[in-house]
Amino acid sequence: MTTLALNNVRPYGEDATNILIDVTRGVIEAIGDKRFDDADEVIDCGGNVLLPGLVDMHVHLREPGREDTETIATGSDAAAKGGFTAVFTMANTNPVIDQPFLAEAVWEKGQTYGKCDVYPVGSITQGLEGEQLTEIGLMARRGVRMFSDDGKCVNDPQLMRRAIEYAKAHDVVLAQHAEDHRMTSGAVAHEGEQAARLGLRGWPRVAEESIVARDAIMTRDYGGRYHLCHASTEGTVQLLRFAKDQGIEVTAEVTPHHLLLTDEQLKTYDGLYRVNPPLREARDAEALKQALLDGTVDVVATDHAPHGSEDKCVEFEHAKPGMLGLETSLAVVHRVFVETGLADWRFVAKVMSERPAEILRLQDQGRPIAVGEPANLVLVDPQSPWTARGEEMASKASNTPYEGIEFSARVTATWLRGTQTYGAQQD
Ligand code: DOR
Ligand code: ZN
Repeated sequence: MTTLALNNVRPYGEDATNILIDVTRGVIEAIGDKRFDDADEVIDCGGNVLLPGLVDMHVHLREPGREDTETIATGSDAAAKGGFTAVFTMANTNPVIDQPFLAEAVWEKGQTYGKCDVYPVGSITQGLEGEQLTEIGLMARRGVRMFSDDGKCVNDPQLMRRAIEYAKAHDVVLAQHAEDHRMTSGAVAHEGEQAARLGLRGWPRVAEESIVARDAIMTRDYGGRYHLCHASTEGTVQLLRFAKDQGIEVTAEVTPHHLLLTDEQLKTYDGLYRVNPPLREARDAEALKQALLDGTVDVVATDHAPHGSEDKCVEFEHAKPGMLGLETSLAVVHRVFVETGLADWRFVAKVMSERPAEILRLQDQGRPIAVGEPANLVLVDPQSPWTARGEEMASKASNTPYEGIEFSARVTATWLRGTQTYGAQQD
């Protein structure tokens, strides 16, 4: 048995302890007050915070089709650097992940590379065209756990009803990108004062909220595991609260950028800030924060969306929507919740690891830091100032909205089943 000791570490930011990992089996072997100095590899963690490996329900790794902007390999590097041990990569690739063999290829590439478990998301409609449902059952049988047309909304209510029914029959998660496209044609920014001042076409809140309301009612009547991608408005929060109060089983995510940034950013017309759904107003960000704190919104998901400079360093209206997220999300969540005293590291573990693993029913992720549990772990130094720089990211793209921003929490190491996937090798 090969062993690794993580000495002087603080699980969930609580009391310092020592952890011994059986690297061969990839599980936590022992936890105790005495340092494990005889392990094959011994790391003194200097009292840093240990969390279960993070799980991201929503990324875009662009393979197949746009390997010039990200690949499963570079995306896995970015994920490991951000503290993630599992990610779900969306189906809006080229070709679209709408058949079992395509989904299997994504999973296998991720496993071969070995830095992060990359779960494929299957599309709800063939080619994301919003017309014909995919073979949800066939893909589900081959292990696809979540289906989404993300990037596009399943607008047609009859089609959505069928999708909900099929997803229920196959017991998979259906994730909706809520945007009534009939209200957002040509829109590039949140519809409000800021867009009006800047002369940008607006994307009103109601385009999201009307779909959320409809889908909540459909979920009430037709069942299934409905998940809302990137909730972005105060009204969406109210609707989710209403749905949950009625006992409707919906889950929802919020992105780090919708928690920290607002449409104030748009004043420079920098395409880096174009994203879908758009950055909204302070009151939306505030409502989303409260919703995550009280469980109305379940998880943080990055919507990591790499784009090349040819698609970002252009006029705002021509910039493609999307922002990098994997390498900055933990730092942003730390800034918004931990630094401010709104929440602790237990909360971070819950919304970035435990809840997403639970929603996707991953047996080996988001587990407690305890003996016998899988050694999917991330070590975080809460006080190690660093500055976000797109050029320095492991991601192939560099479209971070946090360029030049200083953060204090830094991921120092990540382990997937006991194998280090990120961080300086120590002896
Ligand atoms: O900003 C976004 N970018 N939102 C989406 O829904 C899709 C994504 C992408 O694929 O670039
Ligand atoms: Zn989306």
